[in-house]
Amino acid sequence: MNYKVTVFGAGFVGATTAQRIAEKEIADVTMIDIVEGLPQGKALDMMESAMLEGFDAKVTGSNNPVDVKGSDVVVVTSGVARKPGMSRDDLLKINAGIVGSVADAIKTNAPNAIVIIVSNPLDVMTYLAGVKLGFAKNKVMGMAGVLDSARFRCFLAQELGVSMRDVDAMVLGGHGDDMVPLVRYATVAGIKVEDLIPKDKLDAMVTRTRNGGIEIVNLLKTGSAYYAPSASVVEMVRAILHDEKRVLPVAAWCTGQYGVKDMFVGVPAVLGKNGVEKIIELKLTTDELSQLKKSADHVLENVKKLNL
Ligand code: 2OP
Repeated sequence: MNYKVTVFGAGFVGATTAQRIAEKEIADVTMIDIVEGLPQGKALDMMESAMLEGFDAKVTGSNNPVDVKGSDVVVVTSGVARKPGMSRDDLLKINAGIVGSVADAIKTNAPNAIVIIVSNPLDVMTYLAGVKLGFAKNKVMGMAGVLDSARFRCFLAQELGVSMRDVDAMVLGGHGDDMVPLVRYATVAGIKVEDLIPKDKLDAMVTRTRNGGIEIVNLLKTGSAYYAPSASVVEMVRAILHDEKRVLPVAAWCTGQYGVKDMFVGVPAVLGKNGVEKIIELKLTTDELSQLKKSADHVLENVKKLNL
């Protein structure tokens, strides 16, 4: 393949991300994890499926962070996942140590890579990585808006009994309980969902979207979601490596857009070969803006706890 993607963390999200990237032949993939044998075993297992799935991408596993060398894109999924009763913020301290050391390894060994953070609490970990890496801010971003929007779109499509592909919707803000699903901009083949679904049902779907992560945690009991998170990462990786100029909601460095300054928060962005190439500023109502501010303030509160 022309490109190399390194995925830190060979757990469910990391390994499924690697699998999707290889199967779609987007890039060769290296999985790096501290658990001896885990990334190597999963990589070998994936390679042994290559002739059956029909892909030529190479998947390798390593315990050495130096093997991030030569990566075009790096995906960071390292860290612990939530258990029932835990919020994403509960993971803050534990995952800050892990993501911090991964960022150091990327900075030293892959200084030209574009970095996508997936570890939770996502926006705070993206901030931490942004500071540690010291890369141009367009080259660091967090995955969450794509996932939260996919969940919202799924619920809307199921409610209406229509193809998922025809439903468009965006969720902005932090990847937490106060994320901002934009109902006003949600459409089915160009028709506003507000014209198709009664308000109380839409409100319930907004709440279900906000609780989308914990709904899965409560069902799985021993871990969190990985099919939709990995699919979301892959959508971003492909947009970057193929220079697609996709408009996707991602945790991007804001410099005053939507009233948010010097913070990573979920906003619609154009993704291409330079990473976040542009932030698109939608016209939001006062209420939507204040929801976004509340969400960004919550991220900031947690960023402060890191004493960076
Ligand atoms: C989720 O929303 C794990 O935060 C992730 O499923």
